[in-house]
Amino acid sequence: MTLKEVYPPNTDSRFDSYKAEHAKSISNPSEYWGQKALEELEWFSGWDTVMQGSFLHGDIAWFVNGKLNTCYQCVDRHIEKRGGDVAILWEGDEPGDVKEVTYKELLRRVCQCANAMKSQGVKKGDTVTVYLPMMVEVAVVMLACARIGAVHSVIFAGFSAEAIAERIAAANSKWFFTSDEGKRGGKTIPLKNISDNAMAKDVAKGIVEKCFVYKRTGGKTGWTEGRDVWMDELSAVQRPYCPCEIMDSEDPLFILYTSGSTGRPKGVLHTTGGYTLWSHVTAKNSFDLKEGDKFACVADAGWITGHTYIVYGPLSNGVTTFMFESTPMYPDVGRYWDMVQRHKFTQFYTAPTAIRSLMRFGDDEPNRYDLSSLRVLGTVGEPINPEAWRWYYEVIGKEKCSVVDTYFQTETAGHVIGNLPGVTPMKPGSCTLPHFGVETVVLDAQTGKEIEGNGVDGVLAIKQPWPGITRTCLGDHERYLNVYMKPYPGYYFPGDGVTRDKDGFIWITGRVDDVLNVSGHRIGTAEVESALVAHPAVAQAAAIGFPHDIKGQGICCYTTLTNGYEESEDLIKELRNAVRTSIGPFATPDMIIPSSSLPMTRSGKIMRRILRKIASGETDTIGDITTLGDPSIVQILIDKVEGVM
Ligand code: WTA
Repeated sequence: MTLKEVYPPNTDSRFDSYKAEHAKSISNPSEYWGQKALEELEWFSGWDTVMQGSFLHGDIAWFVNGKLNTCYQCVDRHIEKRGGDVAILWEGDEPGDVKEVTYKELLRRVCQCANAMKSQGVKKGDTVTVYLPMMVEVAVVMLACARIGAVHSVIFAGFSAEAIAERIAAANSKWFFTSDEGKRGGKTIPLKNISDNAMAKDVAKGIVEKCFVYKRTGGKTGWTEGRDVWMDELSAVQRPYCPCEIMDSEDPLFILYTSGSTGRPKGVLHTTGGYTLWSHVTAKNSFDLKEGDKFACVADAGWITGHTYIVYGPLSNGVTTFMFESTPMYPDVGRYWDMVQRHKFTQFYTAPTAIRSLMRFGDDEPNRYDLSSLRVLGTVGEPINPEAWRWYYEVIGKEKCSVVDTYFQTETAGHVIGNLPGVTPMKPGSCTLPHFGVETVVLDAQTGKEIEGNGVDGVLAIKQPWPGITRTCLGDHERYLNVYMKPYPGYYFPGDGVTRDKDGFIWITGRVDDVLNVSGHRIGTAEVESALVAHPAVAQAAAIGFPHDIKGQGICCYTTLTNGYEESEDLIKELRNAVRTSIGPFATPDMIIPSSSLPMTRSGKIMRRILRKIASGETDTIGDITTLGDPSIVQILIDKVEGVM
């Protein structure tokens, strides 16, 4: 079968209804979202104004003075009707190691966790840092924080001690959650020991008052008396009910650190009313959630995808959400499909990088399993290449499932662009059309003017606030304004390039700033570079993304060495390690290219464009190099890169 350009929806009438509803949602957002907020969430008391503020001033607020609690939306309100239904279905690292937690049980566990935190002094407004593996407890802690009004800051369990320390310090977080160890792909990860190292680093020293530790493996860990608390024991003795804190719609719900093009990661802040509505509505619409569904998002809870589509979105909709501790390759490459067959998932949501790595093993693997329970397949994190789309659609979905390509960011809370299953025509590689309430435009990158019509390229921007937009960067509102609001005044600027095709469909062409997207993980080139130059051997570093078959992008680091250091295998290993310890193993460079100099303009600016071409092997289109201080360096680097490829 050949890949078609368009896969039409079940009925044209639903596409027409989408268009009409979308038009209504952007022409009168207050009316649209006011009504949705009433229909979809339960409020303790109503708001005065649906929406206020603007991108221009960066002072956005939704459901002003409305009161609600996010944990209540996700747990309490389901108890009467479906308290006995499974809220969280968890599968551990070993296949078949399964736990089910009903909504009733979840309420009890969340309340006990909330009471345990309160007993140790955690208060509304405090930041709670969470460094947990994919165990049920990560959802329990997030919901317990929401319940008592504490602001969680979840750190993906692949981050290093240095990265954790920096985040503890930036948020001045007195409270910290971890587990003794984690299990992943047959390996044991010493999370408590990594946490101990983090808390001992200079920047973080003395900040954490209590470190709450769950048991995952029972393995040996370090222990600091007075600071460390076994959380299972502390929770077990707590009262099984804890009242919900009455939260203002604009009270912070969580922060999540993410990489930008410059400087250190920023703490993206989301607030209670807007985030909760956005996660609820987009989960429902994008995945066509229905009562009784078993929804599987196999991301990690430590990223925005996990926050919104493992925890808040599915639970708010009262379906069963899946939590997966392992990897797609463990113990073999049939793991996902084996789980679909055993658990009968109705939706399955993953990233293009996982699809690409699994399709290499052929169709026989998935064909061994019964995948007929699936209705909707989702993809997120980067543009999906049409080959991978087709494999997903044909081999996994048997041409019966919708494939939804969901575009969003940490900052947008949830999906802002993406097809709706059975509604929007699908175009492999295009994330199609905006969600309700999202008005996308294509801007000329230089002039910032809107480009009208179809068949055009530019940068993506969003024209009016939607409930889920981030409100600030923790402790640095100026940075928030500079990064998102000021580049194109009056618009929100996500940092991506875009094509609007002849039918008005959106194709994301990738980041236009210095942010890399490696296996769907967002990494700032500045972070990688600062990890490298912190090593005494490195004088200068430039981290560049290049196309990678599986990961989407790989990282190539060009470095010049300090006098007295010689290039060697060992040194390259050390530099690779420097990045792993500064950020985490997922940011490990694919190539490190030491060199006597880098291509610079005469004024001393590193020519990244040229480095990108060299790393990508596009050496015949390097263009003019006569403006370089030393043009001969280009051929030297080309030879070096070819040598390691
Ligand atoms: C990219 C991840 C194309 C994009 C949810 C964005 C995508 C960045 C898609 C955000 C998609 C995410 N198609 N590109 N469907 N989804 N991206 O904050 O470059 O980790 O700006 O959030 O991922 O990464 P973040």
